[in-house]
Amino acid sequence: MRVKFPADFKWGTAVSAFQVEYGSSEEKIPDTDWYRWATSDQIKGEKLVSGDSPANGDGFWELYEGDLKRASELHNNSIRLSIEWARIFPESTEDIEVGVVRSKDGYILDIDVEKEAAGKLSERADHDAVEHYRKIFDCAKGMGLDIFLTVYHWPLPSWLHDPFQSRKDPEGNGRKGWLDEKTIIEFGKYAHFISSVFTGQVEMWETINEPDAIASQGYFFGDTSGYPPGISDIPMAFRVQKNLIFAHNVAYLQIKRNSSKPVGIGISPPYLEAADERPESARVTDFARYMNNEWFLNGLIYGVFDDNFDMLEDSRVEGLAGTDFIGIDYYTRMRISYNENEVLGMEFKPCQNCTDFDWDIYPSGIRKVSKWMFEKYRLPLYILENGIADSSDSKRPSFIHDHLLELWKSIELDGVPVRGYYHWSLIDNFEWARGYSMRFGLYEVDYSTKERRKRKSADVYSEICRTGEIEYEQR
Ligand code: BGC
Repeated sequence: MRVKFPADFKWGTAVSAFQVEYGSSEEKIPDTDWYRWATSDQIKGEKLVSGDSPANGDGFWELYEGDLKRASELHNNSIRLSIEWARIFPESTEDIEVGVVRSKDGYILDIDVEKEAAGKLSERADHDAVEHYRKIFDCAKGMGLDIFLTVYHWPLPSWLHDPFQSRKDPEGNGRKGWLDEKTIIEFGKYAHFISSVFTGQVEMWETINEPDAIASQGYFFGDTSGYPPGISDIPMAFRVQKNLIFAHNVAYLQIKRNSSKPVGIGISPPYLEAADERPESARVTDFARYMNNEWFLNGLIYGVFDDNFDMLEDSRVEGLAGTDFIGIDYYTRMRISYNENEVLGMEFKPCQNCTDFDWDIYPSGIRKVSKWMFEKYRLPLYILENGIADSSDSKRPSFIHDHLLELWKSIELDGVPVRGYYHWSLIDNFEWARGYSMRFGLYEVDYSTKERRKRKSADVYSEICRTGEIEYEQR
């Protein structure tokens, strides 16, 4: 039996600027914390990163037309792209004065960009970069692909963040990135500018990709994750989460002033499951779910903050704008059992059906997470990422089918309003700390020749997108 997705469903693939743009003949890579980090001899020497350079990447900046054509040949009607902040503002915008609107407790809620400041931002921006993005977006639209634009997908301009200094002395430096509330203000200026220049082209906006991962990988598991600035400090991780909540709020308001299109946030909830029957395991699993996503969303959507992590409200900030939708990046299940010797008592169990990344393949998790998210927050959802590191492409075909079937069940059987699905990723790309070793693409990339080769899983996805239907076998 074949079953049908809603007629207006968004079918897409996703990439991010830093992960695909570089590698063409471009001479100067934008100066970001991630670029400095990934190419630093010290960080490479400590084996925190792969040693691969983002500079040898896909070259999407020049080769975008072919890649967008590939997306349209997959019968997609949308594509998720991001913009590199440091391309638009290679120089600091800190001296451009804006009004700052604060809550009564002093949190930054909004910025007021008056005409003069808007003019200065425009003067400061790199208009060659703006025009180039415009060409990319026009090209995509010409091929029938709506633009789902992520304003910020991880790298910070180096004028805002020095990851090495942050690692050594997080408080004692002038460029502390997301630890510093001034980054919220600069982000607001960037969002203001971006939304004013691209408003006619963008159909859907995502302010920040996976704030949860920025905080957890950079500031919680920083000793081992390979993400800048390599810090492991729980209070700091939550300070970053809090700043990211207000950064979203400011950006949301800026974009809304320029665009009538939906604006949202995207997070990455794994399906968290207790690995055994003990009540302690259930308790730490619930706590992991709470810390991983609820803490953040309760703040962002309801303005409710739990400052001592006891799962109870400690403070409330009035006047937050919230979000029009929640984007879910779903990849895996994590099984947790209680172990008093582990941090927070959480022992993460090894995968059972593993990807190249050793992430557990667990299709029904996409349905469970979507249901949980909708029941809790009652907002429309998008799957903004779902995919698998599988260089041999042996597991990806069934991965795609099985996850999409579970997603169909979520929409049709559970009544969850999931509006679209973006596969991660269109092409192999620079997988952060793991460089080019992890292959997520529907198209394989030969990094020395920049050639793309279609994997067989691309046909599986293409057929589902073409028909809007999927084979349903009762298991
Ligand atoms: C990120 C992507 C990344 C993917 C696979 C997501 O967390 O948004 O940038 O490549 O996961 O690790």
